[in-house]
Amino acid sequence: MFQLAVPIIYSLLWSRAVGAASGPPNIVPLHLDAGFWYGSFVVGPQNFSLAIDTGSFAVIIGKGKYKPNPMSQQTNQGEFIQFNGASEDGVQMATEVFFFVKDDATFAGVALNDFLVGNITDGDPLGGDGILGFSPPASMITDPNDPTFLAGQSLAQAICDEEGISPCEFGLTLKTDGTGSLVFGPLDETKITGNITTLPTLSHDAWIALNQTEADSALLVIDGEPVTHLIPIFDNGTPNIIGPLDVVRSALLSVGYNLTEQTDSDGISTVFGTYDCSRSPARFGFSFPPSTEVHYIDEGANVLNRTADGKICTANILGTSTVTAPDWQIGQTWFQGRYVQHNLNASTLAFADLA
Ligand SMILES: *[C@@H]1O[C@H](CO)[C@@H](O)[C@H](O)[C@H]1NC(C)=O
Ligand SMILES: *[C@@H]1O[C@H](CO)[C@@H](O)[C@H](O)[C@H]1NC(C)=O
Ligand SMILES: *[C@@H]1O[C@H](CO)[C@@H](O)[C@H](O)[C@H]1NC(C)=O
Ligand SMILES: *[C@@H]1O[C@H](CO)[C@@H](O)[C@H](O)[C@H]1NC(C)=O
Ligand SMILES: *[C@@H]1O[C@H](CO)[C@@H](O)[C@H](O)[C@H]1NC(C)=O
Ligand SMILES: *[C@@H]1O[C@H](CO)[C@@H](O)[C@H](O)[C@H]1NC(C)=O
Ligand SMILES: *[C@@H]1O[C@H](CO)[C@@H](O)[C@H](O)[C@H]1NC(C)=O
Repeated sequence: MFQLAVPIIYSLLWSRAVGAASGPPNIVPLHLDAGFWYGSFVVGPQNFSLAIDTGSFAVIIGKGKYKPNPMSQQTNQGEFIQFNGASEDGVQMATEVFFFVKDDATFAGVALNDFLVGNITDGDPLGGDGILGFSPPASMITDPNDPTFLAGQSLAQAICDEEGISPCEFGLTLKTDGTGSLVFGPLDETKITGNITTLPTLSHDAWIALNQTEADSALLVIDGEPVTHLIPIFDNGTPNIIGPLDVVRSALLSVGYNLTEQTDSDGISTVFGTYDCSRSPARFGFSFPPSTEVHYIDEGANVLNRTADGKICTANILGTSTVTAPDWQIGQTWFQGRYVQHNLNASTLAFADLA
C-alpha cells in the first residue's frame, strides 16, 4: 500500500562488511493472498501474518489483535495515516490510527528488543493481521510541534543493525506461483538471469526512481511501443499497477479494451479495461532509459478476474483520479518473476529476472 505523501498528522488533526556475522541467511518465506504478500512476524507470544509493504514505513497490527505481554511498554506516540491500494483491485483506500508499543519482536530469525510496533486503535479493515513497512525512512520521524507524532521504526534497518548487514539491503523474490521470499543482504546472483537494472531512488519515504531529465525517466511500454514517460513508485504492497485516470483510459482504449468506469460517493473516479479472454492480451511493461529493454508484467498476474463464463477478462491495471501524472504505482504484479533489491545505504533499487 502506498502511504500517501502528505499524511494527515495529529497536530493538524552488495558485499557483507568484513567481520559481519556469517550465520544462516536472513530469509523470510512469503505467500500471496488476494494481492498482498504475507510473512510472519512474532511479537511477544503472538505470531502474526503481516503484509510486506515497501510503500510504507511502520509495522502496524490490526485493531484488537495485538495483546500486551510482560515486555510491552506503551508509548503515547503514534500516527494517523492514509493508504491507497488497500484492496486486491487497488481501488480501496484505508485510514488507520495507531499508537506504538515498544516490544520484543522476532523477524527473519532475528530477535529485536524494544522494537516499535504500531497497535491500531481505529481504522479500516486490512488483509491478514496488518502491515510490515519496508519503505526508506520517513522524512519526518517525529514532529517538534506535536509530541504525540511518531512515524515508527524501520524494520529493515533494525535487522541490518542487529546482523551487521552493511550496506543495508534486502531483496524481494516474488514468483509467479504465489510463493516468494524476503532476503536480507546482497543480491544472490545465482537466483537471477539476464541483466541487472539499477535505478537511483529517493533516500526517504518511498522507493521512487529519480530522473534528471524527462528523457531519462521511465517509460510505459505497451506491446513494444513506448507510450509515455512517468515517475515510478515501486511498491510491492500495492496489489497491481496504478496510474493516472486519463493516461490509463487512453492506454486501454489504444489496445481495443472496453472501459469500465466508476465514480464513488467521494468523487474518486476509476477505470478498468475489459477484453475478450480469447484474444491475446496486450502486454504492459516499463523500460528504464538509457536501456531499451522492456520489463513486462507477467501475463497471468495481469488478469484481475474473468466473468463466471470465462469470457470477459479484466486487466489488472487501475486508472484513478487519486494518482496524478507523471506518478505511477508499480505494484506486486510487476514484481512477480523478478528479484527486486532495495539498498537503503546507496538509495538504489535494482532488479533482474528470476532464474
Ligand atoms: C509463525 O507462523 C508461521 C505460519 O504458521 C510458522 O511457519 C512459523 O514457524 C511461526 N513462527 C513461530 C516463531 O511460531
Ligand atoms: C492495543 O490497543 C487496545 C485498545 O485499543 C488495548 O486494549 C491493547 O491492550 C493494546 N495492545 C497493546 C500491546 O498495548
Ligand atoms: C549504511 O548506513 C548505516 C547507517 O547510516 C551506517 O552505519 C553504515 O556504515 C552504512 N554502510 C555503508 C557500507 O555505507
Ligand atoms: C543486456 O544488456 C546488454 C548490453 O546493454 C544488451 O546488449 C542485451 O540485449 C541485454 N539483454 C537483454 C536480455 O535484453
Ligand atoms: C522526471 O520525469 C518526469 C516524467 O517524465 C518529468 O515530468 C519530470 O519533469 C522529470 N524531472 C526532471 C527534473 O526533468
Ligand atoms: C465491448 O463493448 C461492446 C459494445 O458495447 C460489446 O459488444 C462487447 O461485448 C464488449 N466486450 C467486452 C469484452 O466487454
Ligand atoms: C472484476 O473486477 C472489476 C474491477 O474490480 C469488477 O468491477 C468486476 O465486477 C469484477 N468482475 C468479476 C466477474 O468478478
